[in-house]
Amino acid sequence: MKILGIESSCDDTAAAVVEDGRKLLSSVVSSQEDIHAAFGGIVPEVACRKHIENILPVIEKSLRDSGMRLDEIDAVAVTARPGLIGALLIGVTAAKTLSWALDVPLIDVNHLHAHIYGAWMSDAYPQMPALSLVVSGGHTSLYVTKGPLQHRQIGSTVDDAAGEAFDKVSNILKLGFPGGPAIDRAAAGGNPKAVNFPRALLNSENNNFSFSGLKTAVLYHCLGQNASREAMEAANFDPAFVADVAACFQEAVVDVLVNKTCKAAQRSNAASVIVGGGVAANSLLRARLSEETKNMGLSLFMAPMSLCRDNAAMIAGLGFHLLKSGRRADMSLEAEPSA
Ligand code: KG4
Ligand code: ZN
Repeated sequence: MKILGIESSCDDTAAAVVEDGRKLLSSVVSSQEDIHAAFGGIVPEVACRKHIENILPVIEKSLRDSGMRLDEIDAVAVTARPGLIGALLIGVTAAKTLSWALDVPLIDVNHLHAHIYGAWMSDAYPQMPALSLVVSGGHTSLYVTKGPLQHRQIGSTVDDAAGEAFDKVSNILKLGFPGGPAIDRAAAGGNPKAVNFPRALLNSENNNFSFSGLKTAVLYHCLGQNASREAMEAANFDPAFVADVAACFQEAVVDVLVNKTCKAAQRSNAASVIVGGGVAANSLLRARLSEETKNMGLSLFMAPMSLCRDNAAMIAGLGFHLLKSGRRADMSLEAEPSA
């Protein structure tokens, strides 16, 4: 069964063709990073306009790369929630149109569940129950997972998402957008013990996260407690200072993520840990999680680097399981900003 997946929930326009939920025939992602970098973050209106320009060429390329004709596609799966409403609408409208014109099923996909599924597209199936961490620019959430379609959320961030903190701290350190990869690189040359940044909710019994205090602590450390926008703009940090702050910030985020994920896995008697989302590309997070889960006798499933950030392969992949379960959307399908 060949499924065309479409993803446009944030700033990436993506399309992919996946066979039987796992065999990647093509995966095309058109990133808007360079455009949003000028603003230091994603501008929703700009993202929507770009999706409109990109959506058809990206779908056409995904079909070309897969060697499929449109009439060989068995179903169309699309991210319908959560995300930027205007951005989601472009993908949903394209998917509805294709489903109607080709007379094939339309499947609405939850983007966060698809991030979890991304971790088991290229590996053996994880043993269930699993503890899943979705860690991205918009979300930081924990789930107890019992199958590709069975996820019970048990915790989430109470303020900023981890990726959002990476992006904001990168902005303070003038490392550019997106912040995650820039901080990951800068941290490699820093001393992770130079500053002891706060690790919010580390020892709390619940499964929630908080990253906004950490971002403020970095701001105060770099520019003092009365930091103004002007001071932020005028700042000119020494590269060694930047590397140390990046390393210590990353250390604090990873400490919290690994600790809370592993504790939650233990509490829910999970056999495996699944990690997906853009921040799952972080080198320290990957290394620490593999060390910690090994110590605890848990198997770890992390999305391969190409499937960490937003993509449509995970949408088409999960779409296959939804289709098999009998799920169908119709022309009344609407984009929804929340999950
Ligand atoms: O999953 P994603 O592409 O989009 C959302 O659904 O949000 O995640 C994007 C986020 C951004 O905040 C970006 O800075 C972060 O993932 N990211 C990273 C790394 N690569 C991307 N964060 C930390 N380390 C990385 N290597
Ligand atoms: Zn995402």
